[in-house]
Amino acid sequence: MNGPSRTALGVALHRAAHQTLDGGRIFKDPFARAILGPDADTAIAARVTPRSRHFRQFLAVRARFAEDALARAVADGCEQLLVLGAGLDTFALRNPFARLRVFEVDHPDTQDWKRRQLGLAGLNLPPCLRLVPADFEQQTLGAALDESGFDSLRPAFFIWLGVVPYLSADAIGATLDFVTAIPRAQIVFDYPEPLENYDPRTRVQVESLRQRAAGMGEPWLSYFDPPQMAALLRRHGFDGVEDLGPVEIGMRYLNRPDKTPRAGAHVVRAWRDA
Ligand SMILES: C[S@@+](CC[C@H](N)C(=O)[O-])C[C@H]1O[C@@H](n2cnc3c(N)ncnc32)[C@H](O)[C@@H]1O
Repeated sequence: MNGPSRTALGVALHRAAHQTLDGGRIFKDPFARAILGPDADTAIAARVTPRSRHFRQFLAVRARFAEDALARAVADGCEQLLVLGAGLDTFALRNPFARLRVFEVDHPDTQDWKRRQLGLAGLNLPPCLRLVPADFEQQTLGAALDESGFDSLRPAFFIWLGVVPYLSADAIGATLDFVTAIPRAQIVFDYPEPLENYDPRTRVQVESLRQRAAGMGEPWLSYFDPPQMAALLRRHGFDGVEDLGPVEIGMRYLNRPDKTPRAGAHVVRAWRDA
């Protein structure tokens, strides 16, 4: 990645569009538009098209799934959230949990850009938030978090949305190892299936997303078959895995009862019991 992540801007524009076009039906985020600054509406109109509706829905679903699970973890005593590859994520601005500390770990260039965006939007960094710069390909999470105040002996919740496809297998494995070294850790992330899994119509749409990301200098490097992902998570020491594919997402969030198996983007929660 050269400079701030452009895909982070893309997903932030779609999250904002979910608020304006869909009324935030799946995921409410009152800061999604504000964080884009004064030109938000022009930028949204230039990027969001009727064809991107499914992508927008998926972004809303993954955020909702992550934050619902986070709320349960906080009720269970978790006081640390790490948002890995945070982009323009706004959870820290909306954090309703008095004791929850938030660590956003992101590529230094993206993080600098986020600071500027917050300034342009007139939004202050909330006291619960700590910004931690790191390149997952160059540095371990442990080293990056060393002086951040993060306590690796206490439970933590990780949100890692829209990042796995951009990372190498080594960087993914190192992150999973870091997570499973933490007591009662939980992580939510998403991943794409290999392109050959998709039906021809969906494959054209996914291929266009993939090419767009590559054109922005952020090629997709990692894809997984669902059984392969489950095995990877077990191998790295997770005790439990909840993997929602297109059928489960459709039934749970989109009022789509069609149970025909099909490939698509997945969102996963994995956890350690102790
Ligand atoms: C598609 S954006 C997702 C942003 C955010 N999670 C969201 O859903 O809005 C990808 C994010 O991954 C981060 N990223 C990609 N490769 C990275 C790397 N090697 N090290 C650190 N961050 C990386 C980018 O900086 C960016 O914030």
